[in-house]
Amino acid sequence: MPDTQLRDRIAAELARTRQRTALLTDSVDADDLMRQHSTIMSPLVWDLAHVGNQEELWLVRDVGGREPVRHDIDDLYDAFKQPRRDRPALPLLPPAEARAYLRTVRDKVFDLLDRVRFDERPLVADGFAFGMIVQHEQQHDETMLATHQLRIGPPVLTAPPPPPAARPVRGEVFVPAGPFEMGTATDPWALDNERPAHRVHLPAYLIDAAPVSNGDYRAFIADGGYDDPRWWSDEGWAHRCVAGLTAPMHWQRDGDDWSYLRFGRWSPVRDDEPVVHVCCYEAQAYAAWAGKRLPTEAEWEKAARWDPATGRSRRYPWGDGDPTPAHANLGQRHLWPAPVGAYPAGASPLGVHQLIGDVWEWTSTPFTGYPGFTAFPYREYSEVFFGDTYRVLRGGSFGTDRAACRGTFRNWDLPIRRQIFSGFRCARDPRPDEAGR
Ligand SMILES: [Fe+2]
Repeated sequence: MPDTQLRDRIAAELARTRQRTALLTDSVDADDLMRQHSTIMSPLVWDLAHVGNQEELWLVRDVGGREPVRHDIDDLYDAFKQPRRDRPALPLLPPAEARAYLRTVRDKVFDLLDRVRFDERPLVADGFAFGMIVQHEQQHDETMLATHQLRIGPPVLTAPPPPPAARPVRGEVFVPAGPFEMGTATDPWALDNERPAHRVHLPAYLIDAAPVSNGDYRAFIADGGYDDPRWWSDEGWAHRCVAGLTAPMHWQRDGDDWSYLRFGRWSPVRDDEPVVHVCCYEAQAYAAWAGKRLPTEAEWEKAARWDPATGRSRRYPWGDGDPTPAHANLGQRHLWPAPVGAYPAGASPLGVHQLIGDVWEWTSTPFTGYPGFTAFPYREYSEVFFGDTYRVLRGGSFGTDRAACRGTFRNWDLPIRRQIFSGFRCARDPRPDEAGR
């Protein structure tokens, strides 16, 4: 892409992202911004200034080689030095000061964007550092959206409902045995953990054509799924007991029915929407009850990207082009998942629907580096999280921006977490009579 075009694209992405940050932080008052709505979340005003601080560190100081704007606040907004539970007690910048700080940093970034040469240095080639900062801010915007979902008080966010189902989608899709290319070597703004591209050979499997819906999940609850340790892993059952789990987060009994709370508004649970706000242990228990299992991360990605006609892996299920509103429920255009069958144009070549958008999908795979992984540009983005502790989630949610969502994009969290917009679909091994399909 020519430099002028790349500059325009970066400027547009930065501005579009900042509008979303403003929407999330201007919609509540100063007290609300300073308050901690849950001990596992930051006060919104911490996220706000942290976004500015990362932009300062990477773009103003590293790429631009400029003098620090606020060296004195680096520690306050260092996510590794300040655990979330401690953040409300810190001497945080009050909202007006945080907003002014973000504006100062952004002005310097626009100034440097006019002059920067997108040369061979890996940090600036193809505008990578700018793309990384856009994605970072969008990731915090999704986190802030999850904080809004936990916030007590009158509703402040509104959005039109997602589109209705265009056609029924049910059942499973057979994925034949064979190799596919996982990860990417070419997507210019892909992050270190998505690299390098590598071949993975998978045995045949079946994967659900759509995410598990509220209606499906309600049957698991009604069948006593939460009270039967047979369906739960040992750690899962222990957590279910300690945490007293009986239904997805934000669900409440309503006579014989269920209601859920979404951004301050109660409504009856809709059976045709993908279930959201379940932890990995709940997802695994449901899958076991259904006679299935969670897909591995590689199974998820092959179902999403592999094109049997060419043998190639696509950037997205529908092709290489960026998502449009016809493909997927992304970017907080809507405030909840769309019904199953709402995005036929977003299906993969094999006919798997709604892999991108709606809900993050739990996989059974712990978060580790691909063969040949190299941390770039800093170990703390992903390498320090590698190991057995975190599980990979794929595909993005209704709260994920298109800039931070690709067929190769990897998210990770603790298997107990469910304040995130997390759902799942199931997979299974073929029966002997299905293996040759
Ligand atoms: Fe961050």
